[in-house]
Amino acid sequence: MDLFEAIRTRRSVRKYLDRPVEEEKLQAVLEAIRLSPSWSNMQCWRMVVVKDQAVREKLSELSYVESFFAPKGYRTNPSKKALAAAPVVIVLCADPARSGELWNQNYYLVDAGIASENLMLAARGQGLGTVFVGVYDEEKVKGLLSIPPAIRVVGLFPLGYAAEENKEGPPRKPLQDICSYERWELKAST
Ligand SMILES: Cc1cc2nc3c(=O)[nH]c(=O)nc-3n(C[C@H](O)[C@H](O)[C@H](O)COP(=O)(O)O)c2cc1C
Repeated sequence: MDLFEAIRTRRSVRKYLDRPVEEEKLQAVLEAIRLSPSWSNMQCWRMVVVKDQAVREKLSELSYVESFFAPKGYRTNPSKKALAAAPVVIVLCADPARSGELWNQNYYLVDAGIASENLMLAARGQGLGTVFVGVYDEEKVKGLLSIPPAIRVVGLFPLGYAAEENKEGPPRKPLQDICSYERWELKAST
């Protein structure tokens, strides 16, 4: 699949078929993460690939936010069931000590974000679906998977064959609302 076609047609997939992911497709997705650019090429990302059904079900149970201030719609997570239903979950982690921090910007999140997009586009290119799940109890996920204290869990990615049509996704803002030329001329309200 052409790269821009993959960018244009990628959608968050929240329903999965009961169909395994071929090992070579999984490896292609992991390779796309491995090849991502990063701060000073320090490659701060780490992954735990979970196939075990019982562990995926536990990950699903941990996909909630307890805080009263949780963003609207995220107290429970629309992708909760996907973590148990998809045959594979990639737990994307990062080691903040292996990235840059400059002027209050933590680049490990940028590194992991780029790796996440590589993951999602590679999945699309392989005919697979995935979704970035950012809602989970990080400490409990770390405990479940024996992830060391200094490592951060940045996202959970169910991976599998989509059970739903590749529908049009939520709309994007028009380019003129988010981009101006030569100087900032964007409205505060958009
Ligand atoms: C950092 C981040 C966290 C996200 N967390 C969740 C989540 O916890 N649950 C979920 O269902 N979708 C989650 N999403 C998916 C977004 O809701 C989705 O990308 C957005 O609505 C656009 O839809 P699309 O991916 O189909 O284009 C997350 C996306 C990002 C980038």
